[in-house]
Amino acid sequence: MTASAASSRSATPSQAPIRIAPSILSADFARLGDEVAAIDQAGADYIHVDVMDGHYVPNLTIGPMVVKALRPWSKKVFDVHLMIAPVDPYIPAFVEAGADIVTVHAEAGPHLHRSVQLVKSLGVKVGVSLNPSTPPEVLDYVLPDLDLVLVMSVNPGFGGQSFIPSQLDKIRILRSKIDATGRAIDLEVDGGVTPETAALVAAAGADVLVAGSAAFKGGAEAYAPNIRALRAGADRGRTGG
Ligand code: DX5
Ligand code: ZN
Repeated sequence: MTASAASSRSATPSQAPIRIAPSILSADFARLGDEVAAIDQAGADYIHVDVMDGHYVPNLTIGPMVVKALRPWSKKVFDVHLMIAPVDPYIPAFVEAGADIVTVHAEAGPHLHRSVQLVKSLGVKVGVSLNPSTPPEVLDYVLPDLDLVLVMSVNPGFGGQSFIPSQLDKIRILRSKIDATGRAIDLEVDGGVTPETAALVAAAGADVLVAGSAAFKGGAEAYAPNIRALRAGADRGRTGG
């Protein structure tokens, strides 16, 4: 990279620090409080909470009562990913439960702008997620209002799926759209993130990496090395190493 390319890159939000957001979907649900504390102490930046309704996605997970019960177990950012439709009626309960970021799906309802404004009106950060088949242009008229864009690199509903490589192009497009706003909007990727794919998504411009199975595999002793390996992968991607 030339010196001028390096300086122009470092002037953009793409050089925000890499953050690792372990998804508790892959934790031991019988010991969820301990698992949240353990992954926090292992170096997680965000605690990613996957909320599924058996309707918008073909799986059921947890609701606001569980988020509230987990809140005392970590001071880290609670990054709540709502895979539910309708979403608006439930947003206040997740905010009251302690969500710091509430992410809704662009495809989950007819009034995305309204959902975004609702989250913002409640004083927390707002994200919008795009499924693998959804083009990045659907965000054009809401992007400046967002704190986070979440690119799904698997079809939402389950952990442990394989990364869909076509999403790298979408990450690159969204990176340049975000940079054009001049705002510090997180670009998060979720699904099939391993140390290897972490390098690819970081090179494409992602700065928040969700990882379920890759973060929680091997039991509590492995959580810190798992997170270090994900971070190292992302660093390799950024530096081209
Ligand atoms: C999928 C969820 C993801 C999932 C990721 O619908 O949104 O957060 O837990 O799991 P891995 O990292 O195992 O693909
Ligand atoms: Zn998720």
